[in-house]
Amino acid sequence: MKIDFSDINGKVCVLTGGCGVFGRVFGQAMAEAGAKLVIMDYKQGRCDECCMDIFKKKGDSVLCVVGNVLQKDSLVEAKKEINEKFGKIDILINAAGGNAPTATTKDEFIDSDNLNQLDKTFFGLDIEGFRSVFDLNFLGTVLPTMVFAEDMINRNGSIINISSMNSFRPLTKIPAYSAAKASINNLTQWLAVHFAKTNIRVNAIAPGFFLTKQNEFLLIDEKTKELTARGNKIIAQTPMGTFGQPEDLIGLLLYLSSDISKFVTGVIIPVDGGFSSYSGV
Ligand SMILES: NC(=O)c1ccc[n+]([C@@H]2O[C@H](COP(=O)([O-])OP(=O)(O)OC[C@H]3O[C@@H](n4cnc5c(N)ncnc54)[C@H](O)[C@@H]3O)[C@@H](O)[C@H]2O)c1
Repeated sequence: MKIDFSDINGKVCVLTGGCGVFGRVFGQAMAEAGAKLVIMDYKQGRCDECCMDIFKKKGDSVLCVVGNVLQKDSLVEAKKEINEKFGKIDILINAAGGNAPTATTKDEFIDSDNLNQLDKTFFGLDIEGFRSVFDLNFLGTVLPTMVFAEDMINRNGSIINISSMNSFRPLTKIPAYSAAKASINNLTQWLAVHFAKTNIRVNAIAPGFFLTKQNEFLLIDEKTKELTARGNKIIAQTPMGTFGQPEDLIGLLLYLSSDISKFVTGVIIPVDGGFSSYSGV
């Protein structure tokens, strides 16, 4: 057995949310590993712009495809194009996802300070925001798996979902995102069992805290540019004492994509600088 990731070379990898902060780094990594890479995102202009860098370097082995993870028809269309140009799909990375301010409470707790301002709490959440965050993270993983995984049957396929720290214990302020990521863990295990006899593996990466666009408003004070109280709390609860860099996820991504992990399925692996192991004492 070869002890490297060279079996990824030539495999067809679909990356949803391919133009996001993590997606861009994942795409570079999979392209460097020699995958035939499909970068998928849902807006044409965004997709063209973000594909350009990798495309310039890797040319024919990169395909930029517009696909909406919440619309089955759009994914079926995308699959036709992928199959025509690259053949059957081997690896699926479900990286479209995220939180939104409309599904975030202003306050962490209900207490005597905000009893007259319940709009700052759970009671003030916008249900459409709640729904869209839940849908993007949960259905946005279910649907691409439903459309793309059929190609993987009996061909050693690998599906990698993106979970989060809040899937193990919810974080304050973001109930929809926390519940949706918990559902990703459950779905990962369910699919791993369901697909096990067809040699499709399903695993998830649970990133810890990475300072990115989607959580910046919670972690950095807009005016002072200093860490917010929440940002400081996170650093204090992370034994390694720092936020992660998206590149820190690459080793695990390649491991789960490659046949080197061929007996690993149904696991959710944290990459978190020790956050989930630390009780705070
Ligand atoms: N950034 C973090 O700190 C962090 C931590 C833990 C988990 N995660 C998870 O990692 C994943 C990637 O996060 P990110 O920071 O790269 O997010 P991001 O917002 O930078 O990227 C998400 C990408 O998904 C695309 N997208 C949104 N809706 C879509 C749709 N309907 N169809 C197709 N594409 C769509 C967006 O255009 C964007 O390019 C998400 O699931 C996120 O929840 C992120």
